[in-house]
Amino acid sequence: MADLKRTHIVMLCSPGVGHFIPIFELAKHLAHHDDLTITIITTQPITSIPDSYQTIINSLQSDIHLLSFPSPPYHSLPESAKDESRIMFSISHNLPRLRELLRSLASSDNPPVALFVDLFGVDAFDVAMEFKIHPYIFSTSSCFALRFGLHLPKLDDVLTGEFQDFLEPLRLPGCPPISPKDMPDFMLDRGNTAYLSFVRIFKRYVEAKGILVNSFEELEPVAMKALKDDEDVPLVYTVGPLVRTCLTGVVNGAGCLTWLDKQPLGSVLYVSFGSGGTLTREQMKELALGLEMSKQRFLWVVKTPHESKPSAAYFGGQTPESITSLEFLPDGFLARTEGLGLVVPAWAPQVEVLGHASVAGFMSHCGWNSILESILHGVPMLAWPLYAEQNLNALMIVDGLKVALRPQVGDNGLVTRDEVCRVIKCLMEGMEGKELRERMKQLSVAATKAVAEDGSSFKSISKLALDLKIL
Ligand code: UDX
Repeated sequence: MADLKRTHIVMLCSPGVGHFIPIFELAKHLAHHDDLTITIITTQPITSIPDSYQTIINSLQSDIHLLSFPSPPYHSLPESAKDESRIMFSISHNLPRLRELLRSLASSDNPPVALFVDLFGVDAFDVAMEFKIHPYIFSTSSCFALRFGLHLPKLDDVLTGEFQDFLEPLRLPGCPPISPKDMPDFMLDRGNTAYLSFVRIFKRYVEAKGILVNSFEELEPVAMKALKDDEDVPLVYTVGPLVRTCLTGVVNGAGCLTWLDKQPLGSVLYVSFGSGGTLTREQMKELALGLEMSKQRFLWVVKTPHESKPSAAYFGGQTPESITSLEFLPDGFLARTEGLGLVVPAWAPQVEVLGHASVAGFMSHCGWNSILESILHGVPMLAWPLYAEQNLNALMIVDGLKVALRPQVGDNGLVTRDEVCRVIKCLMEGMEGKELRERMKQLSVAATKAVAEDGSSFKSISKLALDLKIL
């Protein structure tokens, strides 16, 4: 039974590996500070968490407890619950179970003082408040995306028409100019459920006792200042980069690391579209042929293509059908690129890959965790955003930080094989690539310092731990 003096925090995590990883890392960092007990509730089945994570879960420290409130299987969700709405549904579906858990914990020897929820969890605020538990938001994306999201309800109040009708980019405090093409896709139709849900969600952020962001001050000083200067915004703690530590010797993932060991230093482009991102068949073919034309070494995590819209398979990473994904590669591609490239279906141990000395570039869907992992390991990027807030992330790393290049989409909506080849060569061989790499190395140093003892995020987590103790 837990000791009376410990401060107990409950963390509710939306489904999706990209949400689970940072919340779990946050718990580990907080647990370094004495006297904290943490209960993490994941809303996906524990078995859907990738193998490398299972290894960490098995070695959990005793003051972190993991519970699973799995969401209903995807096929049983209502027709209306698509993409982001599915995540929200998985939280609302679990509120009665959360209430029961908090009720029993509230009357235990070690009642929780705070409930942390991520982007989609604001409906759980009401349940927390029933038991006098303070609600906190853990924002799993950038300070920039948070600043933008917090502007959204005000923008929505004054806007007539659609965001696409703007002729000039939006200029908001703490954000670079944002054109409609940089906005999350759900914003392009103000009538859709996901858009309306986000407006409602961001309206409630101000009710939080504090907001934690998986970023660091040195990465986003302007957005961070804009957050601090806004008196309507609760206290913001920058706690990142929260990145899974490399598991040396524990994972190899389809032979990726053994293969990388055999490649020359700084020679390989890693290509991956995150835990759920997929391309169309046609786009996948252009990417394959562009990779081949570039004659660069590559490690490509291939997922089964979709027919029309990029998928956001939030309910897990490793799907059995992904094994068939290699069938969609162009005829003869594997034979022609043998020796130059390694193609793996579904999943690779990304943190270990990015930390490998042979890897010199990362073509990514711009999920925030992928960006932080690339920054931490000093690997410059090719930005290929697909869904959610990934356009905003791409804008930040390409135009803002200048650590990534972005391939141009042609008139037919495709990035052609020539364009793929051009950006890859630019990143891997060109002067521009060299400059991007230099800037990324500087960010890597800053990121490492931020989480080291006395770094900005370390101090912020320490302050958070103290603030939680006096709630
Ligand atoms: C999505 C959003 O796009 C992201 O910005 C948001 O903040 C969380 O939800 P996701 O598509 O899961 O995220 O991408 P990302 O944020 O990059 O997270 C994927 C995680 O899975 C990373 O930690 C990555 O290391 C890991 N991963 C992914 C692997 O380990 N292997 C893989 O093959 C693919």
